Amino acid sequence: MNIYLVSGPKFPFLIKTPSVMKIKYFLFTPLFALLLSSCIKDQVDSSIHAYSSDEYATLTKKLDIPIEAHNYMVQLPPHLGNSRVNSNKHKATLGRVLFYDQRLSANGEVSCSSCHLAKRAFADDKAFSEGFEGEHTKRNSLALGAFPSFNAYYGFGGTRMFWDERAGTVAEQSDLTMRDQIEMGIPSIESLASELIQDDYYRILFDKAFPEGQFGTNITNKDKLLTSLDVFVSSIACFNTRFDDGWAKHFSSEANFNNFTEEENLGKQLFNANCASCHNLGPGFSTSVTSANNGLEINYEDSGMEEITGQSSDVGVFKVPMLRNVALTGPYMHDGRFETLEEVIEHYSSGVKNHDNLHANLKDGNGPRNLNLTQNQKDALLAFLHTLTDTESIAHVKYSDPFKQ
Ligand code: HEC
Ligand code: HEC
Repeated sequence: MNIYLVSGPKFPFLIKTPSVMKIKYFLFTPLFALLLSSCIKDQVDSSIHAYSSDEYATLTKKLDIPIEAHNYMVQLPPHLGNSRVNSNKHKATLGRVLFYDQRLSANGEVSCSSCHLAKRAFADDKAFSEGFEGEHTKRNSLALGAFPSFNAYYGFGGTRMFWDERAGTVAEQSDLTMRDQIEMGIPSIESLASELIQDDYYRILFDKAFPEGQFGTNITNKDKLLTSLDVFVSSIACFNTRFDDGWAKHFSSEANFNNFTEEENLGKQLFNANCASCHNLGPGFSTSVTSANNGLEINYEDSGMEEITGQSSDVGVFKVPMLRNVALTGPYMHDGRFETLEEVIEHYSSGVKNHDNLHANLKDGNGPRNLNLTQNQKDALLAFLHTLTDTESIAHVKYSDPFKQ
């Protein structure tokens, strides 16, 4: 037996005193929002640019969107650090339409949503996704259903994109994906964006998102398109989980939660001791390992981050994925090798390989740290991972396909 219930890393949680919390709550009263909105010109939602009835008639020939654009502002709760994402609703609306538009691929057959399915927390249900000409991607699609929460623990701007973290922002990632010869195959995003703007409904959406004069003359149509996709994807928030309910109430993820079963609490303890050192679930965790080798192989077919850095110490190193909604995002790992969470748990229980680059958090002396979990402990860990599911948020109509069928 080799269970690290007490010797695992410890995480000092921010202790919030009532007075600090009062100030924090004031920061999010309507009055403060109003004050803030006069300072942040572009970022805050405003209804000045609502659609006229003519515009709305044009839009709704093609699109099923509300006359008052949906609100994409995200306010994270105190236990996730209170951060706010001021998503401009018109940019997010344009981003939503683009996300579901198959014209973003060379032959009009694939949209972002083809490989990022809303019901799978915006991951794919296949190990490798199909690109516009039926060829398969090299890696498993990553879930998009948790960007604000993701940023909450890596810090805003601290999250890098892709399994090998080769892109810094969603805009950069979208640029690479759209031009990728397997994924979307678009030769020039600037030409595509300029072509889309010719459509009467896209013209309205672009004008609302980027009112004339507000951004100077330097902003290109390509920038507008990529920025809008970024704003939309970055507004997808999933923190409406049983885990968050418990954490919000107890203000510590270490205490036993009274909304959890005994089994889920045991799973949480096992997770805190053995997994949270890499898979952070929110701010307050003292470490955040953003990428690691988790001992899947001795010889990696896909060498991961090494392809980008050329460093042998990066062979088999991949981004540590977000585990919110993990029950929905299988198959798992960069190559989708595991169909189920049971198989993932078995990996950490008995399958960790002693690769030269195996991360210290999965090492025991010179060897791999296999947890040798009992069946009860495996069941508990699984039960805990299921408390991270938030199907309600991702099902919100504002993230759904806006095109009329
Ligand atoms: C053909 C399938 C496919 C299409 C189309 C596609 N993606 Fe992806 N996406 C993937 C795969 C596969 C990955 C992981 C690839 C990797 O890491 O190398 C990914 C990764 C991402 C990531 C990184 C997530 C993270 O946590 O690092 C973002 C963001 C993303 N896609 C957004 C988009 C957007 C926006 C579009 C549309 C412009 C899009 N994707 C189109 C398959 C696709
Ligand atoms: C050393 C850091 C580290 C530790 C500790 C760790 N993981 Fe991971 N985990 C990773 C990395 C890195 C990946 C992605 C590896 C890859 O795809 O090659 C991953 C992938 C996963 C995935 C797949 C997610 C997806 O979307 O594909 C799950 C689930 C997971 N880990 C759960 C756990 C659990 C449960 C524990 C504790 C028993 C744990 N991890 C401990 C680093 C770690």
